[in-house]
Amino acid sequence: MKILIVGGGGREHAIAQSVAKSPRADKIYCAPGNAGIGRIAECVPIGAMEFEKLTAFAVDKEIDLVIVGMDDPLVGGVVDVMEAAGLRVFGPRKNAAILEGSKAFSKDLMKKYHIPTAAYENFDDPEAALAYLEHAKMPVVLKADGLALGKGVLICQNPEEAREGVRTIMQDKKFGEAGNRMVIEEFMTGREVSVLSFVDGKTIRIMSSAQDHKRAMDGDQGLNTGGMGTFSPSPFYTEEVDAFCHKYIYQATVDAMAAEGRPFKGVIFFGLMLTQDGPRVLEYNARFGDPEAQVVLPRMKNDIIDVMEACINGTLDRIDLQFEDNAAVCVVLASKGYPVSYEKGYPISGLERFDGADGYYCFHAGTRQTEQGVVTNGGRVLGVTAKGADLKEARANAYKAAEWISFENKYMRHDIGKAIDEA
Ligand code: AMP
Ligand code: GLY
Repeated sequence: MKILIVGGGGREHAIAQSVAKSPRADKIYCAPGNAGIGRIAECVPIGAMEFEKLTAFAVDKEIDLVIVGMDDPLVGGVVDVMEAAGLRVFGPRKNAAILEGSKAFSKDLMKKYHIPTAAYENFDDPEAALAYLEHAKMPVVLKADGLALGKGVLICQNPEEAREGVRTIMQDKKFGEAGNRMVIEEFMTGREVSVLSFVDGKTIRIMSSAQDHKRAMDGDQGLNTGGMGTFSPSPFYTEEVDAFCHKYIYQATVDAMAAEGRPFKGVIFFGLMLTQDGPRVLEYNARFGDPEAQVVLPRMKNDIIDVMEACINGTLDRIDLQFEDNAAVCVVLASKGYPVSYEKGYPISGLERFDGADGYYCFHAGTRQTEQGVVTNGGRVLGVTAKGADLKEARANAYKAAEWISFENKYMRHDIGKAIDEA
């Protein structure tokens, strides 16, 4: 089979690595890809938002399966454009990707179908939002409706901050068009867990759980980032939590989308908060998490192509999704100064240490291939993943492997997966 993967980050590298393991994969392309992906796939210089070019390329190369990793093209309708040209695509159509593309939509869906989530109101008028805040309980959570690179959420401690937040989102348009509408939501407390799933429009199969570390510094301090590391499984995702989510959240979401005439095919990522009153949905994403994919996919036993085809064909009920009985930890190696300002272009050494190292992976996020070798090309540069018999061993292995790599201004957190010691 010929496969095209759309995207070029650590998540797409993890997807490419899983695809490359399949005996069914004869040729893998990735658009635009990156230096690491380029070692297992042929990178094509087409951007993820260039739908016509992607489609023309896929038709010309007679691609059998297109896999879309990123949120922007999914929400923008890349699947519809490619399907119209007769291609087989793994990912939700535009009318289903709205589950991630509009927080107001997802909140209304959860309310209508009684899926547990924080209480909320939607606003498309800043004056109405400001009036609502006069009586809102603090702290309160403000969310820009649309995609905002994971940054459109403000947690406000007092009314003054909240009013400022409404102005930032809806009037100053800090997150652009994403702030045309907003959600004001009850503040919840608890552990956060990420659960990824495969969905074929009717059936849902849950992957092993994961947990993300979003803050830049040790002890969950500092600014929010795209993710500084992950681990899987989460010890807080107990059988009781799993049973609750199966009963009230997972199938309910799939059925709700189908009932709305928006059958969802692809990956639903449930961002859950484990509150004292039980699990609640914080958010939905319509794709694999980054860097959650980097710890979940290496532990999956199934052939990823079989699973993705079952999602497209509506035959996921015949798939028995299985994960290794072990753990994985991913430590992100970033450029010092991320997420604010950082330099690029530093040579990276030690990448060859991962060749043939079973259970160790070096996923590229922001790298570039030059004639002199691979150089840093982003805030998050690499995701070093290691497996272990349990989380403790996986963490020790990941930190050992993180030392194999060197580049100027290398920065990482030293406590990824440490919350596990408290469990
Ligand atoms: P989201 O993009 O909706 O997942 O929000 C980003 C982050 O904001 C989440 O991972 C949580 O840490 C936090 N957050 C979002 N909604 C709430 C809420 N209702 N209560 C507390 N924290 C929240
Ligand atoms: N790691 C969070 C996300 O992918 O949205």
